[in-house]
Amino acid sequence: MNVIPVKTGIQKLAPWTPVFTGVTANHFTSESAMLITIDDVLTPAELSTAKSLLARSSWSSGQQTAGPQAAQAKNNEQLAESAEHLPALRRLVLTALNRNALFFTAALPLKILPPFFNRYAGDSNYYGFHTDNAMRQMPDGSAYVRADVSATLFFSDPDEYEGGVLTIEDTFGKHGVKLKAGSMVVYPSTSIHEVAPVTSGERVACFMFMQSMVRDPGQRRMLFDMDMALLQLRETQGDSDPVVRLTGCYHNLLRRWADA
Ligand code: NI
Repeated sequence: MNVIPVKTGIQKLAPWTPVFTGVTANHFTSESAMLITIDDVLTPAELSTAKSLLARSSWSSGQQTAGPQAAQAKNNEQLAESAEHLPALRRLVLTALNRNALFFTAALPLKILPPFFNRYAGDSNYYGFHTDNAMRQMPDGSAYVRADVSATLFFSDPDEYEGGVLTIEDTFGKHGVKLKAGSMVVYPSTSIHEVAPVTSGERVACFMFMQSMVRDPGQRRMLFDMDMALLQLRETQGDSDPVVRLTGCYHNLLRRWADA
């Protein structure tokens, strides 16, 4: 399997701004690391299809994708590479990501590792504090992807389980995340994070790693903030001369910082 290319990209978003097209965005305060939640990544129909496929899947130990240190902290279950419905689930999630402009501007993805699916329930119910491995091998061993951005897409609603909060730590403290089914959080892979024990019910989610065109999280953050601000300016001022010039600055920063 080759690295999955991102099909929705710059070329589809011409002109580049606005990339934010009415998707709900809650990004945390500007001084925090870039945690972005995106609501309704999946349509109700996609969510229903995914939940049905997941309910018919059998789960394996989550140790398969953890490095030696992370493996000590990891106690959950995961779909094995051989799982029957894994290809369909991966297609479903990647299709949803490919049409999501907010995801694109937040992550600026270059390569996305095929998504993984995990479950926290019963005795396999937590993943202690860890940092995600920097380099991820494709499932077939064909190539490496550098993990710059991590993402978790929720399939269980918060009222379906107790505990299970995803806590992401940055230099300004810890942020707890527990989203409704179909929603996603995107955060820098450089952060330390955990999933607290699920004490009842089950928490099913998809987790993803991707290499960004912009490696540095601070630069990605600035580009994201600028893109969001430009969107607002365009709404209130239209394409005035200063807006056109600032849009040019966005592109020129991206040109300076991006690798493809
Ligand atoms: Ni992790």
